[in-house]
Amino acid sequence: MAPIFHLEIGQDRLATLTFDLPGKKVNVFGRPALAELERVLDELGARRDVGCLVLLSGKPGGFIAGADVDEIARVTDPIEAEAGSRVGHRLFGAWAELPFPTVAAIRGVALGGGTEIALASTWRVASDRADTRIGLPEVRLGIVPAWGGSTRLPRLIGIAAALDLILTGKTVSGRQALKLGLVDALLPDARFLDLVRDFARERMLTASGASPASPSPPPPPPVRRPRKRPGGLRAALLEGNPIGRHIVFDQARKKTLEQTRGHYPAALRAIEVVRVGIEDGLRAGFDAEARAVSDLAPSPVTKNLVHVFHLTEEAKREPGLPGGEPRPVRETAVLGAGTMGGGIAQLIAAETDLPVRMKDVRNEALALGMSHAAALFDRQVRRRRLDAPGMRRKMALLRPTLDWSGFRRVDLVIEAIVEKLEVKQAVFAELAAQVSEGAVLASNTSSLPIRDIRVKTPRPERVVGMHFFNPVHRMPLVEVIVPEGADPSAVNTVFDFTRRLGKTPVLVKDSPGFLVNRLLTFYSIESFWLLDEGYRIEDIDRAMVDWGMPIGPLALTDEVGIDVAGKVAHIMAGAFADRVRLPAWLDRLSDGDRLGVKNGKGIYRYEGRERQEPDPAVYAALGLDPKQAAHAGHVDGAGAAGPEALADRMVLPMVNEAARCLEEQVVRTAGELDLAMIFGTGFPPFRGGLCRWADQQGLPQIVATLERLEGAAGDRFRPSEALRSTAAAGGFYARFGAAAALAAAAAED
Ligand code: NAI
Repeated sequence: MAPIFHLEIGQDRLATLTFDLPGKKVNVFGRPALAELERVLDELGARRDVGCLVLLSGKPGGFIAGADVDEIARVTDPIEAEAGSRVGHRLFGAWAELPFPTVAAIRGVALGGGTEIALASTWRVASDRADTRIGLPEVRLGIVPAWGGSTRLPRLIGIAAALDLILTGKTVSGRQALKLGLVDALLPDARFLDLVRDFARERMLTASGASPASPSPPPPPPVRRPRKRPGGLRAALLEGNPIGRHIVFDQARKKTLEQTRGHYPAALRAIEVVRVGIEDGLRAGFDAEARAVSDLAPSPVTKNLVHVFHLTEEAKREPGLPGGEPRPVRETAVLGAGTMGGGIAQLIAAETDLPVRMKDVRNEALALGMSHAAALFDRQVRRRRLDAPGMRRKMALLRPTLDWSGFRRVDLVIEAIVEKLEVKQAVFAELAAQVSEGAVLASNTSSLPIRDIRVKTPRPERVVGMHFFNPVHRMPLVEVIVPEGADPSAVNTVFDFTRRLGKTPVLVKDSPGFLVNRLLTFYSIESFWLLDEGYRIEDIDRAMVDWGMPIGPLALTDEVGIDVAGKVAHIMAGAFADRVRLPAWLDRLSDGDRLGVKNGKGIYRYEGRERQEPDPAVYAALGLDPKQAAHAGHVDGAGAAGPEALADRMVLPMVNEAARCLEEQVVRTAGELDLAMIFGTGFPPFRGGLCRWADQQGLPQIVATLERLEGAAGDRFRPSEALRSTAAAGGFYARFGAAAALAAAAAED
């Protein structure tokens, strides 16, 4: 087998070790790489001709992406998991103890094990290239950094800063890493390798007390800073004594519990591992890492998080619709400068640097759209992700307009005007007359069929759905709606452009509610029925938040707007009359100007946009009498349901409908459905996705629960034929999961 590590030793005793995993785009520490590293370490330990060793990546795209996630996915045995951690400790420990200094030269992405070997190095330098990102994302996969990272990082950059990186799994740029003290120098990328060598040579000479032999011209000084404790005086004072440290760990624990509600055990465990490493020393820290991984790696939560990781990776390889190349997009336009249009225009400017015309019929709307965009850019400036000139440049890309000027040059138009079919039909017909033949026309409609919107448009095959989620800058999903007879090249233009915007596109059939809103409708209508049965607003919402949803269904109705939600509910009741029934009071809910967050009056009370307690007037207005949900278990003696049963009532209708969606090919695979729900609604990743969760419960069991609910609460719960056949076929992934995975595997081969 071709070598993975390449060692070169120069006359000047400066050595480089280049990690270059054959046949792969990125370096990962799988078994073969670890085995070879062990041999290299044996050799290096015995060498006397090395003064300093630089670790480089042979991959243009990045440094080291970490451990092989597939190996984490396969571990089912706690002993094997612990052994995996110990291997890392042994190898990176040997690396740290080499008889000469080491320099990790980070260019591009360093994640997990990649960051951990850098932490075990004597020095770390980073390129100032824009894609240099350094982080420890293990907690996002349900484990903790367990090759020394949880123990070494806090010693290097302080406890609070280390916890921030480890608990969020976020990555930092080279510049941020320098500021944190995570790297010792930030080097201009244009001369990276030369500057790394200079850095190493300088360290080597300082270490040996010699001075440079031949005076060579001095290189331009790289951006450097001496090591100093990050986090300022406050962090140093707090972390420098046991009481202060106790406070830091205690706060981290409280915040984590509040945010994860105990669903992500790795985060709490990471805090404990960091504490042990700081209080009891390196060796104890490594032991704690190994024990944590042994408990966490085989757990279902980890397997689910790794599954979601794989879905995300697969989605990146999705090629779109067969049969049409995406067209180049150089100029864009958005129709409507409201909540969505303003957000989409801002996103285009932020992510693509392309000019974007923003057309509305009202000047005030344009002004609002511009100020919304300015507020979002301003936030980036405050977070130092953008500087003031950068913001001015971005804002200049936004071209507000009341007329069609400049539309002839536009390659892609995204419509986000009022949700009224006749208006959209007329606007698309008018639009078609203003743009070139090749322009792709997309609608952000959330409920209207694209085939109806395009009826008056000449060349209707270029009209595609591009369904964003609110708020646009935060939600990672875009449903790319493919109407019948659509031009694949138009579809793929939208698909491709979605990726350029940093979002994940999922192809969805042109059908009522598309995918995500269709499933969510069943969930939110069931929350209305629970309200109708007398359950308290807070009990209904808490059941789902405790289950792991980011927001309860009734609070979500307030966010969407009670008027909008009511309208969608009616559309869905029309489309799926056999199984969507609405409480008679639904239209009364928005009576008297109760619209939700947007007017500060909803199912909840609001102060500004801040949600307060449920509004008791809602019960009276609807003629309902609230009862308290049982505290635990399924159903108590009086017939009231506990949180788990409440959650079943709301989640199982989505499972039932998901089977229909897959059978009708609204979405191609269970994996895509799961990803869409996670990215579009915040469905809890630790459950692996709606279909995966259902498979884990066992579909026969779910069918039985639905049958029971059908008897008790109504025929809307009747298990669909699609669900029964999916159960008979062995589950969602057995029946609908393979296609995308196979396609992805084929593409890789
Ligand atoms: P909005 O009411 O905030 O904005 C609509 C804008 O369109 C207004 O500024 C209005 O002046 C403008 N407009 C009306 N007719 C126009 C015309 N002929 N030409 C140009 N501009 C015109 O509405 P929002 O919430 O932004 O929704 C827009 C579209 O996005 C709708 O189709 C909606 O279903 C969809 N959508 C909405 C989501 C949400 O959460 N609000 C989520 C996903 C999709």
